[in-house]
Amino acid sequence: MLRTSRGLIRAKPLSRSFATVTDTPVRRYGGLKDQDRIFTNAFYAWIIQTIKDSGLRGRGGAGFPSGLKWSFMNKPNWQNDKRPRYLVVNADEGEPGTCKDREIMRGDPHKLVEGCLVAGRGMNASAAYIYIRGEFYQEASHVQQAINEAYADGLLGPNACGSGYPFDVYLHRGAGAYICGEETALIESLEGKQGKPRLKPPFPADVGLFGCPTTVANVETVAVAPTICRRGGAWFASFGRERNQGTKLFCISGHVNNPCVVEEEMSIPLRELIDKHCGGVTGGWDNLLGIIPGGCSVPVLNQQKSGEVLMDYDSLKDAGSGLGTGAVIVMDKSTDIVAAIARFSQFYKHESCGQCTPCREGTTWMMNMMDRMVTGRAHVREIDMLLELTKQVEGRTICALGDAAAWPIQGLMKNFRPEVEARINAFRASQGTVGFGGHLASQA
Ligand code: NAI
Ligand code: SF4
Repeated sequence: MLRTSRGLIRAKPLSRSFATVTDTPVRRYGGLKDQDRIFTNAFYAWIIQTIKDSGLRGRGGAGFPSGLKWSFMNKPNWQNDKRPRYLVVNADEGEPGTCKDREIMRGDPHKLVEGCLVAGRGMNASAAYIYIRGEFYQEASHVQQAINEAYADGLLGPNACGSGYPFDVYLHRGAGAYICGEETALIESLEGKQGKPRLKPPFPADVGLFGCPTTVANVETVAVAPTICRRGGAWFASFGRERNQGTKLFCISGHVNNPCVVEEEMSIPLRELIDKHCGGVTGGWDNLLGIIPGGCSVPVLNQQKSGEVLMDYDSLKDAGSGLGTGAVIVMDKSTDIVAAIARFSQFYKHESCGQCTPCREGTTWMMNMMDRMVTGRAHVREIDMLLELTKQVEGRTICALGDAAAWPIQGLMKNFRPEVEARINAFRASQGTVGFGGHLASQA
């Protein structure tokens, strides 16, 4: 059985609901100034190797190995490419249920700025752009204050840390579009255009911001880099299990006694996470209906699976869901699960940028059909038609929003299909057409 604490875990609240594992906050960059050696020419390779050794995977949702991704910026002969390199920090945290990056920026912004310096140096970048969600007023002001302090202390600028290495950090505020959290839409938005995703490849590592090599990384990923470099890749890799190493911020909301954001060891059992940090499900575990373990883009798990899974990439994938952003949405038996998933469908329809047909048309159809499921004014055979529609959208779009719209519906039908059928049949019965839906389904 995996242990969740190795004596390193401290409940050190940064705000009312946030506890941190990995380190004490680096107030005003204590210590970094003396480490001028990090700016020697070969040191970027050490940073990349340390991140690779740590097993860190992107914390924004996709889980791509960070060391590998950052190394794409230093391809062979990269020194002959005279284009500047950029780090872009994705702070446009918009995934419903997700509120972890916000806590870092609100309570520990210096760690993010220090992370920009470390990650940026590892990529040989000359600047970092932090693209922050427009609604995050307080967080933007905290991060800007931390950036200002870093410039005042000579830690950023043309002679960062007195090393001769130039490095700037800019804060850019978004304007409230969910799709600008997608990395290429974010780059477009930073360039002053409409936030519409680009086709990949080319990946941003080849053609990114202003046509230059760029790495887009999540706030949590960047903010943990200084601690990994300070304590060593092996230390971070000692948490969790193979391919799922390190610690992770989990934001737990919904029907729990104490909703919170906590940093925990990867691979902690989902049930233990809720019991240990949230005081359990309201009304007890038996009152649980289902859990969405990684933000609204991943399929919902029923009660039985929720009790079996570990909070990591592989376990949740095997269970038919995903770790996503680590946003755990708990729903007890008072929840109308069909209405909840239908609400997500409305969200994706609203946030689709509309540039590719399967997503633009498919999200509208999914929303309309889910609305029919909520009221029960549908035929049972429409369940399979709806599933077929999700398959026609999944994997056929420019960006992952199409997949994200399809997966919650697939999860609903996989784990809660009897509830949907019962609702349809109940409506039919109330209209005096008992068995009509089932009859058509058998003919389909
Ligand atoms: P992705 O798997 O396409 O890419 C992951 C990263 O690896 C990207 O930075 C990409 O540029 C890089 N990459 C992948 N293959 C590469 C290659 N061959 N060469 C160079 N670079 C490569 O995933 P994507 O679309 O970036 O993210 C989707 C995830 O985002 C979803 O799982 C979802 O959970 C999450 N998400 C998070 C939100 C948030 O608020 N944090 C909002 C919406 C979605
Ligand atoms: Fe836009 Fe949707 Fe296509 Fe993404 S999948 S590019 S959001 S239309």
